[in-house]
Amino acid sequence: MAANPPRVIVTRRLPEPVEATLIAEFDAEVNHGPPFDRERLAAAVQACDVLACTVTDRLDADMIGRAGPRLKLLANFGVGVDHIDLAAAKARGILVSNTPDVLTDDTADVTLALILGTLRGLGEGERVVRAGQWAGWGPRRQMGRSLAGKSLAIVGMGRIGLAVAARARACGMHIHYHNRRRVESGDALGATYWSDLDAMIGDADVVSLSCPYTAETHHLIDGLRLKRMKSDAFLINAARGAIVDQDALIEALEAGEIAGAGLDVYPNEPHVDPRLIALPNVMLLPHLGSATIETRIAMGEKVLANIRAWAKGEDLPDRA
Ligand code: DGY
Repeated sequence: MAANPPRVIVTRRLPEPVEATLIAEFDAEVNHGPPFDRERLAAAVQACDVLACTVTDRLDADMIGRAGPRLKLLANFGVGVDHIDLAAAKARGILVSNTPDVLTDDTADVTLALILGTLRGLGEGERVVRAGQWAGWGPRRQMGRSLAGKSLAIVGMGRIGLAVAARARACGMHIHYHNRRRVESGDALGATYWSDLDAMIGDADVVSLSCPYTAETHHLIDGLRLKRMKSDAFLINAARGAIVDQDALIEALEAGEIAGAGLDVYPNEPHVDPRLIALPNVMLLPHLGSATIETRIAMGEKVLANIRAWAKGEDLPDRA
């Protein structure tokens, strides 16, 4: 490491061993307070060589335009980089890294949990028990739907989509997917490729989103596509909130146009629309796809590896 280690500002508290290594190896300052507001984020991008940021930091063109000349790397703690304007960063010569692979299994687990939770009514069941309203076992009580034999339509067959497919297949579901192009490993899992997203959605018992959020996927699931879904089908989203038109989703749920939804992400986090909270057939999680001790440490190790590579002038292992 050079005599003057790079100045690294870390916008959120990271797992303890990661923070300790950042502080030992770099001139690092960790924000121990609430997420940065715009002014504090602007002060940070002016004052460091590397910003170790997260999904809660909106690094849009305006914010990148406010960066100081020394800012050279945005080392994102997370795989999704939709909160970073990559074109603006590139134009300013700022590199961006992310943390792929290490969170694939955990995020797929949460997606499967939402599929199970919605089809089997697990969220509602837990609420009934906690409220002291459980009237005991009954042949017609708390009946959900079986996973086995149902068709699961995965939108976006990248690493996480494939991991969801493997889990759902083990539960006896029939796997279908839509992706920009056919994925060999999807075919090897016995998944059926659909080039026509609308046709796939109209045929599925469960539609699950595993695609990145981009200009193309903004409101990909809109009112028209929700109307294409079967009235006994479920929508699962553990990707990004704004892939779904949330108002249209709430209308579809309220009108009984679909059977339910399982959500880990929302368009304006941490705000959750009270109309969603009021719906019994919706399972709501607080964006915890990658939230395990093991994975959060592994994500931090990726942040460290990318900063180290940049500091040595090497290629980034995970360039976004
Ligand atoms: C991810 O890694 O993209 C998670 O959603 C947190 O940003």
